[in-house]
Amino acid sequence: MLKLESVSKTFSKDTPNEHKALDNLSLAVDSGEFVTVVGSNGAGKSTLFNAICGTFMVDAGAIMLDNKDITYLPDFKRARVIGRVFQDPMKGTAPNLTIEENLALAYSGGNGRMLGFALNSKAVEKFRTELEKFGMGLENRMKTKVGLLSGGQRQAVTLLMCTIVPPRLLLLDEHTAALDPAMSDKIMEITKDIVKSNNLTTIMITHNLNFAMRTGTRTIMMDSGKIILDISGEERDKMSLSELLELYSQRSDKVFDNDRMLLTKRTEI
Ligand SMILES: Nc1ncnc2c1ncn2[C@@H]1O[C@H](COP(=O)(O)OP(=O)(O)OP(=O)(O)O)[C@@H](O)[C@H]1O
Ligand SMILES: [Mg+2]
Repeated sequence: MLKLESVSKTFSKDTPNEHKALDNLSLAVDSGEFVTVVGSNGAGKSTLFNAICGTFMVDAGAIMLDNKDITYLPDFKRARVIGRVFQDPMKGTAPNLTIEENLALAYSGGNGRMLGFALNSKAVEKFRTELEKFGMGLENRMKTKVGLLSGGQRQAVTLLMCTIVPPRLLLLDEHTAALDPAMSDKIMEITKDIVKSNNLTTIMITHNLNFAMRTGTRTIMMDSGKIILDISGEERDKMSLSELLELYSQRSDKVFDNDRMLLTKRTEI
């Protein structure tokens, strides 16, 4: 479904700041898989997403989506089939548009001329039904400007915008990290429901190792632009957090360290 073959990316090449952010990385994700990604700060997790989305062109290697070579496809074309949610709740939505206008924009594929069509009563009814499932009361605030919503409510709207037309691939980059623990749990539940009901192929970056191990079907661990651990099935089910941390230390020669973990309960690391 998604295949990265020996992908490399070096920033600031030939300068004192030269940094190899992706180092000959290969990854194959099957249709319907839900992969969680963990790793210390600067491991290259977001850079991996940027490479998949075409934020920059990679220096070497190939990226395939649905057996199509997208290595040189511009980002806006990839965005039609790849949904991405960022950590920052401000990023995914337009604050001066209402909830229903934001959703209509996503529903019309970002095509302003189709906006009227996407705001017809049938579409609005669909938005309402989908929002209702979140249990946040957003279905009763469809004419509220998104800028007036809380961070968690905005992330819920962003998630729906990214999936109202199901993408081929959903990328979640610490999309609950800026939320308080209760809201973070809520958004995780919504995420799991959306992924399950649409059978979405999903990759989720998280600093929360507990979330990572009990969400999805497979967990990969990154360090210095490489994948150092890739576990699924029984091996993953049986692995404890301390075993995971131990493996990380063995394979990276470091102690697992992510500044966002400071905001997480110690038991959840
Ligand atoms: N556009 C860029 N220009 C220069 N360096 C960059 C750029 N993007 C990322 N890097 C560097 O590449 C490395 C990997 O960054 P990346 O953002 O992928 O880390 P990450 O694993 O997502 O970390 P975090 O957990 O802190 O989000 C870092 O050293 C970062 O400074
Ligand atoms: Mg990151």
